[in-house]
Amino acid sequence: MPNTMFKRHDKTDIFIHWFNAACWLLLLLTGVGLIQHPAIDPFGSGYPEAMRAMVGGGANLLVIHEIIGLLWLAGFVFYLFVNFKGARFFLAEVFAVSPARDMAWMIKKMVLMTLGPKALKVMGMDPELPDQGYYNMGQKAFAQASVVGGIVIAVTGVIMFMSDRTFGAESTGMIGWAVTLHFIAVGLVFAGLLVHIYMAAISPEERPGFKSMFTGVVPGNYAKHHHRLWWEKVKTEGE
Ligand code: HEM
Repeated sequence: MPNTMFKRHDKTDIFIHWFNAACWLLLLLTGVGLIQHPAIDPFGSGYPEAMRAMVGGGANLLVIHEIIGLLWLAGFVFYLFVNFKGARFFLAEVFAVSPARDMAWMIKKMVLMTLGPKALKVMGMDPELPDQGYYNMGQKAFAQASVVGGIVIAVTGVIMFMSDRTFGAESTGMIGWAVTLHFIAVGLVFAGLLVHIYMAAISPEERPGFKSMFTGVVPGNYAKHHHRLWWEKVKTEGE
């Protein structure tokens, strides 16, 4: 039987994903360069000094970071204008969790990846993973963190941007919170991002999913094996 291709991503979805990834990379590179404090410098003082020297000082680096941040926001506003339906579909899929099925998937997947199927059998569990929909629970957990984290990063970023221009001394407390939450949200999403990049781009099992972030389509046998509930739905709708 031919391995029919299933459409997974629209052109605008592919655009917003890679635009977001490029902005994240640039925001991380410039943002880490802005931290110049011996107690919290992640890479020591050499990196911030080199970044600042490259762009003619810390003030310029801040402006560059702010411009990329504002472009990042503008990219999402543009995406919402051109594909609001796609954004609604994404959010509905990502936040739809079926506790019994999805938690079982998550626990089994973690045991399979670390201890292997024997460990599940010893615990009296079936090593077969429960069927998943358009996204599996691991993808949903990261997507939830990146949506909530992204909103926190954007709102706190705008507060800090405005603090340099309009806010007075009475806003010091709010700005302190904005800085703290900005760091925490970036840290949490970044931790998830390391797993996301491994699972999406390095793990050979997910290679067809990785290719789909360029071509927009996945082979039917991959869809059936990894996203069976979605595969069944698309097949039924097609018929
Ligand atoms: C080098 C960087 C990255 C690579 C190689 C990568 C790869 C991928 C791939 C292949 C998918 C498609 C999964 C599928 O539909 O089967 C995907 C989806 C996604 N990516 Fe990325 N990505 C990267 C960076 C990012 C960044 C920076 C974010 C956000 C902070 C992000 C957020 C997402 C989200 C929310 C999804 C949908 C849910 C999921 O599949 O986890 N990605 N990514």
